[in-house]
Amino acid sequence: MVLLVAGPAWRRRHPAAWWLCVGFPAAALRVVRTWRPLMAACGLAQSRKAALAVVSGLVTSGGPPPNPRVPGRGRTHPKAGGFWFLVRLLPGQVPEDFVKAAPAMAHDWEMHAVRVTTERPGVVRVSATFADPLRHPSVPRQRDPGRLLRVVVGVLESGGAWAIDLRQVPHWLVVGATRSGKSTLINALVSGLAPQRVALVGIDCKGGMELSLFGQRLSALATDRAEAIRLLNALVRMARERMEHCRSAGVRTLWGLPEEERPVPVVVIVDEIAELFLVANRMEKDDAQSVATALVRLAQLGAALGIFLIVAGQRVGSDLGPGVTALRSQLGGRVCHRVTDSGTAEMALGDLHRDALHAAQSIAPDVPGTAVLACGGGWERARSHLVSEREAQAIANEYRHLTPDLPQLHDDTP
Ligand SMILES: Nc1ncnc2c1ncn2[C@@H]1O[C@H](COP(=O)(O)OP(=O)(O)O)[C@@H](O)[C@H]1O
Ligand SMILES: [Mg+2]
Repeated sequence: MVLLVAGPAWRRRHPAAWWLCVGFPAAALRVVRTWRPLMAACGLAQSRKAALAVVSGLVTSGGPPPNPRVPGRGRTHPKAGGFWFLVRLLPGQVPEDFVKAAPAMAHDWEMHAVRVTTERPGVVRVSATFADPLRHPSVPRQRDPGRLLRVVVGVLESGGAWAIDLRQVPHWLVVGATRSGKSTLINALVSGLAPQRVALVGIDCKGGMELSLFGQRLSALATDRAEAIRLLNALVRMARERMEHCRSAGVRTLWGLPEEERPVPVVVIVDEIAELFLVANRMEKDDAQSVATALVRLAQLGAALGIFLIVAGQRVGSDLGPGVTALRSQLGGRVCHRVTDSGTAEMALGDLHRDALHAAQSIAPDVPGTAVLACGGGWERARSHLVSEREAQAIANEYRHLTPDLPQLHDDTP
């Protein structure tokens, strides 16, 4: 009775203690109660007689009542705002079967989300979170200059800082529908990079509406396709010169050069990639082809030579042509905001983590800035810090004296 009255207030004031004492035991009980029917309903139970999946509603007539075998479940462990346990798969089952069942588990256990990951062969880890930690992120935004080419742009679902570190993952593909948070992420990134000794270059073929805000801090900005082609070719030439420089100095990457000789790192930000690839006629097709070739070349050479790519787009599907798929395979880091077409999510995450697709497609419109991140190893949900255009513009202006002069980028030879 006391709990009924004081419960909600307790939960609001001390969510962690509430979860441990009330929420978690109740959820653990629900797991125990629902495990067997849930496994059967999801087709994950096996008949003891034959290796036949028992589908809900299927009852064999006659004989003893069926008592199907269900996957073994380990002890339920509490964690901040959720719980986890391990499950041993039955013969013939694969982790993907459990990934597909995750939404049903979340529903039956009244949890916000359930994530299934492979622990080791034959064993998966099922972890559930009670509420979306990204709805009200608690980690404050901090403005620190940070390590070169590393920027904290938001918070991770696990509670840590979401840092984009270009020296670790040099090239990124950022996708999301309109108002899903792409520009805000670019704002956060530019605000973090502006105080560092780096050159920023923009390609924004929507007439430069977005990136021209940072004009004072950009070493070059292209606002239409023709300019973009010239700029990209100049960047490829720059990469080649740097390669020559490294070779004659006998080092394999830019970072091997002595500091006073080392050219400045260049971060190339491309907003709305589709504008570069959409074609209406044959001539445009050639243009799109040269853009794709230059971007892929830049990505291949760039990382070792201090040239980094951030490519953002609203709709990035395979319908934009083979160039996009070729480019995507060079962009190792992926950020997928809320998307409206499955093709874009597929393009951003499909080749790395198929199980992240569902997480990306279930991002709600009322939590802009929420995204699924993937780069090689695993995937994670995160939310960017809200950095407004005005704020980002002010920071870019404040550090305009750091804008490196790169005359070779304005060289017009094709
Ligand atoms: N991380 C965030 N936290 C809170 N609100 C956000 C966040 N990211 C975006 N928003 C809100 O959503 C709006 C649209 O975001 P924006 O970055 O302009 O989207 P896009 O560039 O994808 O169209 C922003 O004006 C802001 O109000
Ligand atoms: Mg935008």
